[in-house]
Amino acid sequence: MPLKYPRAKGTHDLFPGAASWEEDSHRCHYLEDIFRGVSNLYGYSEIRTPVFEPTELFTRSIGEATDIVSKEMYTLVTKGGDSLTLRPESTAPVLRAYVQNSLYASGGVSKLFYCASHFRYERAQKGRYRQHEQLGVEALGADDPALDAEVIALALAFFRRIGIHNLTLKLNSVGSLESRAAYLVALKEFVLPHLPEFSGEGQARFETNPLRLLDTKNARELEILSSAPHLSAYLTDEERLHHETLIGYLTDAGVDFEPDPFLVRGFDYYTKTAFEIQSPDLGAQNALGGGGRYNKLVEQIGGPPTPGIGFGLGVERALIALQALAVEMPPPPCPTAFIIIQGQSARPVGIKLLSDLRAAGIAAETDYGSRSMKAQMRAADKAHARYALILGDDEVAQNVIQLKNLYDSWQHTIPLAEAVEWLSSDGPPAR
Ligand code: HAM
Repeated sequence: MPLKYPRAKGTHDLFPGAASWEEDSHRCHYLEDIFRGVSNLYGYSEIRTPVFEPTELFTRSIGEATDIVSKEMYTLVTKGGDSLTLRPESTAPVLRAYVQNSLYASGGVSKLFYCASHFRYERAQKGRYRQHEQLGVEALGADDPALDAEVIALALAFFRRIGIHNLTLKLNSVGSLESRAAYLVALKEFVLPHLPEFSGEGQARFETNPLRLLDTKNARELEILSSAPHLSAYLTDEERLHHETLIGYLTDAGVDFEPDPFLVRGFDYYTKTAFEIQSPDLGAQNALGGGGRYNKLVEQIGGPPTPGIGFGLGVERALIALQALAVEMPPPPCPTAFIIIQGQSARPVGIKLLSDLRAAGIAAETDYGSRSMKAQMRAADKAHARYALILGDDEVAQNVIQLKNLYDSWQHTIPLAEAVEWLSSDGPPAR
């Protein structure tokens, strides 16, 4: 039957037990919990920013000529005439919040993490959605390569904890706005004689955003670019030293990486370090996460000169990789007790016990709708409850309840008044 109101293309519903792991609410929550834990371990605290921001924040910081700004933003004009955009990424909003709330005033490095939805009008396919979840961090206030190493280590620690070990870390330095400008002159000079061989998109990038020429997947363009000048030759001594020091820290920590002189990423704000974490277990959308330094962005957004670095990791892509690898995850929490109620006089007593158990912090469930005993037992099994508490009119008459351990089928008749105590963590009452 055709759906009357299907969800918008490129979006998901998340619900318990979904067959595709990226749609499973429990698995998504589990990744967020691990990410919170790892972020706390590294000294990062949570920041939440609005889902929409003034459009100009994104156009100015991400760059007018980027794919995100030129093609992918969900922008709306309010009744008051303001242009607002659903956040396509969180770096600019986090920096806006950092400036607006004077977080720099406390001095030192502000270390922030987020779990947030992002919106990009992309060609939807497996691993590429119009609404996606990112786990990210931004560390603001130091231009120290040790901070770059920390941010990269945090991302890798997260993937290790969730069980993704087969990763490629691609690393590059994209220099400063100035060194990049000098490089772009050389790159354009190199490409110009070959330009007729470039695709329409390549030719457009040549005009509007030549650095993005390096990001092509077109075989002929890659062949031509294989002998193009490298940005590394245009870095200043200070930028080169930063990069070499970072490489030293990564090497000392035993972190494997692949230098990738073509890694430029789709944002204009990056300076110096740029990195991407890829998984061979994903298909075309193999980037599990990416990030880099943005030493001019806080200033551009109207704050004091403040260097920073961060990353974003895609939750859906991590879940797709975990499913491909069949990595085990802890099951969702199960109720301790499942109350099975049979008979009219048992009903209010069972409902009261349900509320007493929950008030005592014991996860308890029941089956609504007065179904047969067999159906209720099946529901208790399906919920993976540890105990069934069986209450019929006879038990109510005698003030008792049947306590059945569903894991090993052991069964006792116990006084109704002691049921909460039996199931509390302290165990059954002393005799
Ligand atoms: P990004 O590379 O655009 O970076 O996104 C980060 C990650 O989010 C990607 O590697 C990918 O795993 C996931 N992702 C991005 N777009 C989609 C999509 N349409 N569908 C599914 N997953 C997606 C940023 O957004 C930067 N703000 C990261 C950053 C933070 N740089 C510095 N600080």
